[in-house]
Amino acid sequence: MSKLSQKHLLGIKNITRDDIELIFETADNFKEVINRPIRKVPSLRDVTIANVFFENSTRTRLSFELAEKRLSADVVNFSASNSSVKKGETLLDTVNNILAMKVEMVVMRHASVGAPHFLSRHINAAIVNAGDGTHEHPTQALLDAFSIREKLGSVSGKKVAIIGDILHSRVALSNIFALQKLGAKVMVCGPPTLLPKYIHTLGVQVELDVQKALQWCDAANVLRIQLERQQIKYFPSLREYTLYYGITRKMLDELNKEIVLMHPGPINRGVELSSDAADSAHSVILDQVENGVAVRMAVLYLLAATV
Ligand code: CP
Repeated sequence: MSKLSQKHLLGIKNITRDDIELIFETADNFKEVINRPIRKVPSLRDVTIANVFFENSTRTRLSFELAEKRLSADVVNFSASNSSVKKGETLLDTVNNILAMKVEMVVMRHASVGAPHFLSRHINAAIVNAGDGTHEHPTQALLDAFSIREKLGSVSGKKVAIIGDILHSRVALSNIFALQKLGAKVMVCGPPTLLPKYIHTLGVQVELDVQKALQWCDAANVLRIQLERQQIKYFPSLREYTLYYGITRKMLDELNKEIVLMHPGPINRGVELSSDAADSAHSVILDQVENGVAVRMAVLYLLAATV
């Protein structure tokens, strides 16, 4: 297979295992490219891509922008906080105005679940979901699975624990879909108040004890407590959360086994991860960031072929 089955990347739920494997094989090539002295290829010359961010981002926005530039695309960046959205312009009007300037692809982050899906029904450009509310963050899941494959040789048959605030996390849902499609066993671990009620319908194991989750898994993907999405208190205090769910270097060392420690970022240092754990030899957190550029190059390159 040399083409994706979809014209957009809206989520992992609606792509196939073949799509994911094609993205990984393409990303392997691009990872080699971005480690050469000349890191640019002409693959997307004359393609214009708009990065349209209605929510804050560091890694995803910069990673997409770098991926686009490494592919020689023309890039425009839109940030809602200093735009005419503040004057009341709608999402559809905003994007249609950007497209009128001859843009072929839109990378979009939005706080509302389904915003990129809505756009895909109304505009004639390829759309990449860079995170929609608490729903999906497909390129994060792809780079996470790619990093597990790189570190452990494959994803199939591996045990991956996703630990932390599952309820508010778009990374968790996209990771569950991607890992299961690739044949991994998935566990979620967190306080009961931060596990969604529907979690049992997703075919994952549920564990409340973080020590047991760490003992079980080959890779632990630790998620941030998303205080900005929490309108009520889900646990008594951050101190208590850290006491029961915070992961330290000592806990990892005492497992007496290889464990791949991941975090999508941004890290709340001293809350879900101690600094000595985040910066330890177990951690592949910065490898995830490096892989993000190669994976996003692959996604954009393959989607451009479907436009
Ligand atoms: N992982 C991630 O989405 O980080 P940003 O919010 O900084 O893009």
